[in-house]
Amino acid sequence: MVSPFDVLGVDDDADEADVERAYRERVKEAHPDTGGSMEEFQLVRRAYRSLSERDLNGVATNGSDGTDPADIDLTEDADGGGSIHVEFLDYEVLADYGWSLDDDDLFRKASHANLGEAEYGRLLVQPDESLLEGAENRGFGWPFSCRGGACANCAVYLVEGELSQPANHIMPDALAERGFRLSCNGYPVSDELKVVFNVKHLPELDDLILPPGPFTRR
Ligand code: FES
Repeated sequence: MVSPFDVLGVDDDADEADVERAYRERVKEAHPDTGGSMEEFQLVRRAYRSLSERDLNGVATNGSDGTDPADIDLTEDADGGGSIHVEFLDYEVLADYGWSLDDDDLFRKASHANLGEAEYGRLLVQPDESLLEGAENRGFGWPFSCRGGACANCAVYLVEGELSQPANHIMPDALAERGFRLSCNGYPVSDELKVVFNVKHLPELDDLILPPGPFTRR
């Protein structure tokens, strides 16, 4: 067994802010894109989830047996694989309904709009899948072209959560800061994500996209 406190490098009495800060640093170091490994990355994520689910008395709740977080076996994943919960929305729907990426209640509106299952829904992505792979492996046909960070055909807009972005990508800093990411080589670094996919239709991404090729699904 390994203590989640040790994994994150925080003291046993670390508060929520300390845990959050430590997690943000450790998850970057542990990510395969930055020299870590998938095993280390998953371990850090499980440690964070364990500590963030403590109740106010510092008792773990995810074990449902009241065990202290220091005793949780991090070699076993409590939810069967550390899946990342992704809620998604097709950008084309925004145009149809007159919604905006900046709408605070965009996903609430989508959840009430009776949209098709390819337009709005939820899927589980495994930690070793890119967001695009996760969508494809669950049967969704999200757009892509190069699959290598050299275009913006696979771009998504992050409404919530974080997606890694390798150094050799084409996304300009200004767009990355606004929340645009590439789904073909972006791996979730948060347990939950809300993303708008198919944003390649946005004018600001026009110069980055590639024309449809033999490997482009849509
Ligand atoms: S498909 Fe070209 S960057 Fe993702």
